[in-house]
Amino acid sequence: MNYHYNVSGTCLWSSGPSHPSCYRIMKAPVVGALSLSALAISTARCSTCCSALAALPELQGKVYAPDTTNYNLRLKTYYSANAALAPWCMVLPESTEDVSSVARTIFQEECPFGIRSGAHSAFKGANGIKEGITIDFGYMNTTTYSQETKIASIQPGSRWGQVYETLDEYGVAAVGARADVVGVGGFTTGGGYSFYSNSRGFACDMVANFEVVLANGRVVNANEHDNSDLWKSLKGGSGNFGFVTRIDQYTVESNQLWGGGIAFDLSQRDAVFDAYLKFADNMDSDPASQLIVTIGYDGAQRSLGALLSNVDAVDMAPAFDDFYSIDNTSSTLRIEHIAKLVPEFTGGTPLGLYAHWMTGLTSNDKRIMEFIDEKHAEYVEKMKAAAPGSNFAVLILLQPVTQSMVKHSAESGGNVLGLEEIVAKGPTIMWLIVVTVDTAENQEKIHPLTIEFRDAVNKYANSIGANKNWAYLNYALGDQDPIAGYGAEVVQFLKATSHKYDPKGVFQKLRGSGFKLPA
Ligand SMILES: Cc1cc2nc3c(=O)[nH]c(=O)nc-3n(C[C@H](O)[C@H](O)[C@H](O)COP(=O)(O)OP(=O)(O)OC[C@H]3O[C@@H](n4cnc5c(N)ncnc54)[C@H](O)[C@@H]3O)c2cc1C
Ligand SMILES: *[C@@H]1O[C@H](CO)[C@@H](O)[C@H](O)[C@H]1NC(C)=O
Ligand SMILES: *[C@@H]1O[C@H](CO)[C@@H](O)[C@H](O)[C@H]1NC(C)=O
Repeated sequence: MNYHYNVSGTCLWSSGPSHPSCYRIMKAPVVGALSLSALAISTARCSTCCSALAALPELQGKVYAPDTTNYNLRLKTYYSANAALAPWCMVLPESTEDVSSVARTIFQEECPFGIRSGAHSAFKGANGIKEGITIDFGYMNTTTYSQETKIASIQPGSRWGQVYETLDEYGVAAVGARADVVGVGGFTTGGGYSFYSNSRGFACDMVANFEVVLANGRVVNANEHDNSDLWKSLKGGSGNFGFVTRIDQYTVESNQLWGGGIAFDLSQRDAVFDAYLKFADNMDSDPASQLIVTIGYDGAQRSLGALLSNVDAVDMAPAFDDFYSIDNTSSTLRIEHIAKLVPEFTGGTPLGLYAHWMTGLTSNDKRIMEFIDEKHAEYVEKMKAAAPGSNFAVLILLQPVTQSMVKHSAESGGNVLGLEEIVAKGPTIMWLIVVTVDTAENQEKIHPLTIEFRDAVNKYANSIGANKNWAYLNYALGDQDPIAGYGAEVVQFLKATSHKYDPKGVFQKLRGSGFKLPA
């Protein structure tokens, strides 16, 4: 039997077949300033939870201890170093039955836990836990397709690049992410803004069925007919109700896309912003076309660009006519398989940088775009001055959220994003700030400025009455409360779902990752 404890001495557990004895645990070395009693409690819980998992025959070899090769490799697969928390132990289920075993153990032993699928949310505590067990869905990563039902059955630990590749040979695609590295589990349960969102809705709107392991280990399906309240709640409610072990999603009957990026000189700002606003105002006239405007700083200079796409694979789609008349400095636009284009959009998104994402929603107002651009320029300079020599990037994404996107929810059983009333008053701008920094030390200097930048945007949006007080969960920072923004009625509904499917509140009390239901 092997005993494991981490360097701080807070955890000791056995990875052997039998339960550890508390006697052995209490003999663990006491390190540092931790009081003996606090250490003993933490040590005991850690020991019980990890040992209990490791002792289950079906989980042999699937529970990873700190400082082992596999454990360290999994930590390296996090997109953001902020999120890569080192837990007491990790468990990597390979089947729904495994997840059920894990859930029963957590339930019985009251183990704190975190959930990760693709690990692409960035903030500390987004998808992992330090004092607890991280349940890592990375080994549940297959996609199967039924030509009869045209439904793709996708395991939560898949990445969208793998999904598009699998579906490509059938000539179909999925309403998934615009970067290949992004995971399915977090993306879909948080909404999922896709190239197909104007024509089909968010990824969650395409879900025919979720297979879910509930807090007590019971496996249920959630769809239009069975557990429909759970089905609807998972369409935006994230990890609040159970472990999603399979997503059955309707597909899109083409694997071709016209899309790519255009770069503009910064001096074209006014023309680009005007073209963006007009495009957003007309999103319902061409549901196949979509747009992102980007303002970047890559460590060297600021930049301006746009990502254009048309999912009917129409070359030079007329919805973007205003953009074609603006002088560009480069363009990658072309018709291609989505399975090929998406990796290109992703570029070499590096893993392990100190990333933070944060977001808001405003009316479709040029003053907001100008304000964000001006503050971007100002804060890039402040950040350079605060952390000289740091290699950091600040990326802004501006994307429309419109009635033409949101209406798909009602056609497919509803989601809980709470956007209907907001977009009824007109198109909105979803802004996203992404800051990535090379080291923890530099991030410490830069992060307060990032928060100042974000707060300035919100304050300005408030001052002109443009703030919609809604934050997209998949882009939100840990201090935001995206679910509260769904509205009081939705929150009541989500709480009722939680009481029904998780009466002991396991996913509210023991889950240490991601966004909870408002108190
Ligand atoms: C490069 C990049 C590109 C992106 N592109 C897009 C985009 O085009 N559109 C968009 O909408 N978003 C995009 N995002 C944001 C993305 O949607 C979120 O980061 C999302 O959380 C990623 O899903 P994941 O599986 O990697 O989640 P993780 O980070 O692994 O998990 C996040 C949270 O989701 C919940 N969760 C995950 N798996 C499960 C499960 N099996 N059961 C229950 N709950 C679960 C948990 O609460 C968890 O805490 C992008 C992010 C990056 C880094
Ligand atoms: C997918 O899961 C299998 C185990 O089921 C694992 O061996 C493989 O590395 C995973 N693939 C990726 C890309 O993570
Ligand atoms: C980009 O500029 C080139 C050169 O002027 C032009 O031929 C091309 O059509 C432009 N592309 C777009 C998408 O506007």
